[in-house]
Amino acid sequence: MSPVTVYVPGDASAVSVGADAVARALESEATRRGRGVRIVRNGSRGLYWLEPLVEVVTPGGRVAYGPVHAAQVPKLLDGGLLDGAPHELRLGDMGAHPWLVSQQRLTAARLGIVDPASVDDYLAHGGYQGLDAALAMAPADIVRTVTESGLRGRGGAAFPTGIKWQTVLDQQVARKYVACNADEGDSGTFSDRMLMEGDPFALIEGMTIAGIAVGATQGYIYLRVEYPHAARALLKALQAARARGYLGANLRGSGRDFDIAIRLGAGAYICGEETSMLESLEGRRGEVRVRPPLPAIKGLFGQPTVVNNVVTLATVPVVLARGAAHYQEFGLGRSRGTIPLQLAGNVRRGGLVERAFGLTVHELVHDYGGGTASGRPVRAVQIGGPLGAYLPASEFDTPLDYEALAAKNALLGHGGVVVFDDRVDMARMARYALEFCAVESCGKCTPCRIGSTRGVELVDRIIAGRVDAARNGTQAADLALLDELCDTMFNGSLCGLGGMTPFPVRSALRHFREDFQPFPGAHAPDSNAAVTAASVRVG
Ligand SMILES: Cc1cc2nc3c(=O)[nH]c(=O)nc-3n(C[C@H](O)[C@H](O)[C@H](O)COP(=O)(O)O)c2cc1C
Ligand code: SF4
Repeated sequence: MSPVTVYVPGDASAVSVGADAVARALESEATRRGRGVRIVRNGSRGLYWLEPLVEVVTPGGRVAYGPVHAAQVPKLLDGGLLDGAPHELRLGDMGAHPWLVSQQRLTAARLGIVDPASVDDYLAHGGYQGLDAALAMAPADIVRTVTESGLRGRGGAAFPTGIKWQTVLDQQVARKYVACNADEGDSGTFSDRMLMEGDPFALIEGMTIAGIAVGATQGYIYLRVEYPHAARALLKALQAARARGYLGANLRGSGRDFDIAIRLGAGAYICGEETSMLESLEGRRGEVRVRPPLPAIKGLFGQPTVVNNVVTLATVPVVLARGAAHYQEFGLGRSRGTIPLQLAGNVRRGGLVERAFGLTVHELVHDYGGGTASGRPVRAVQIGGPLGAYLPASEFDTPLDYEALAAKNALLGHGGVVVFDDRVDMARMARYALEFCAVESCGKCTPCRIGSTRGVELVDRIIAGRVDAARNGTQAADLALLDELCDTMFNGSLCGLGGMTPFPVRSALRHFREDFQPFPGAHAPDSNAAVTAASVRVG
């Protein structure tokens, strides 16, 4: 009997809930029963509440079970898991799962489906069609295709990718670089990690296309050190791509050269900012560079450099393979294409949702997410990482696209959405934003380095004033001062860390003002009343 192929995700989140133990148990228990199994460690499909999600290849197709725990494996095998038998954990064909059917997966199309270590599997699922197309085009035509697709950077700033590439292409120098930003520091984000772990060839192909488009022969992936699973998956894939002539000298006999190396970051949020990343790549402390010059003109080692996020680069093969017009069909306004949104925090069904721009916050949080994990009402979401704004439930009809969010003084960033229930204390969240900035500041400019620390002190005073009758009188002055501080940080900071910290702070002040005001009863001479009010608010 030939071995049965079983997919068990090697994705870091799946591993964190026991996927390695499940893989080991399946192997040993199947062997004990005289059944051969071939375990493939795939990526996650992004339905995290169902991990570890095991898929068995049967004559009728792949049959999923989840969430599977190692202790359940013997009984599952006795019950016929290897033949796709019925069981309460049986989910059937994941391709027909409503959570996935309603998505529009372009960038994440192969996630959880392919073997991330196999070039052949990648090719069998449409891989390298983009590079084949690009190799048949002139560099300027590749860049034009990317520009016409409307693809904008998915790392946070949403800058048009084609325009950046054109700037690098225009530089008449012998040495240029492609630097992939895989620092993924935003809270509640994991799409870069999932892609690198589950479909690393997509990133490798995207970087290779970028290289031949702009005339670069060397690429670097700047990977955060906290992603060891991604590092392993990338190393394997890089070796496999090289062995098959998809990397290295004379790519696929085209006469073009391109190779990629990985560099590990040391775990600083600011190293995700592109100029700090370049400093770190050059072996120095991650500190923001003054612009101009732009990295596209004077970047890594002083040479023109394409700096793009993982998702941006992993989307490029889709654009080249299917054409700019196809990609343009998705999305709305100036937000074209799809975005892999990441749903996290206090949510029942967290994971990866790739949809065309325009899905509303409500649809994401309630239709996909199923509301909070705690079962309590959703009070707020933070969109776009630790520097993103908080939106109250009354704003959940906002479409998730760059312009619609900008109109609400918010930003989409890297597409992370973190859900909070009605027990969240928004004054403490504002404090957290300022504290985060103080801890992560590179220290180069005063509004960020000093302002963030003064901001923490100010919010501490405001929080104390909610229950301390003696401090109540200073509340209005402190709130005005906090607003002024936000103004200074927004206008005076050298980079986005100090410049965008006011987004969470001001949105908390705007939408959740009551959390910054004296609590009911705080004026009363009986201090017990104040304590009771405080404990109700923080839940
Ligand atoms: C404080 C700060 C942190 C950032 N962190 C990241 C990050 O972790 N990953 C990322 O791709 N971009 C990050 N960015 C955005 C990058 O500076 C840059 O815009 C991006 O890598 C460009 O790629 P893209 O055009 O494909 O988005 C950060 C920006 C700032 C200001
Ligand atoms: S805003 Fe903060 S992180 Fe950015 S350059 Fe200034 S001190 Fe450094």
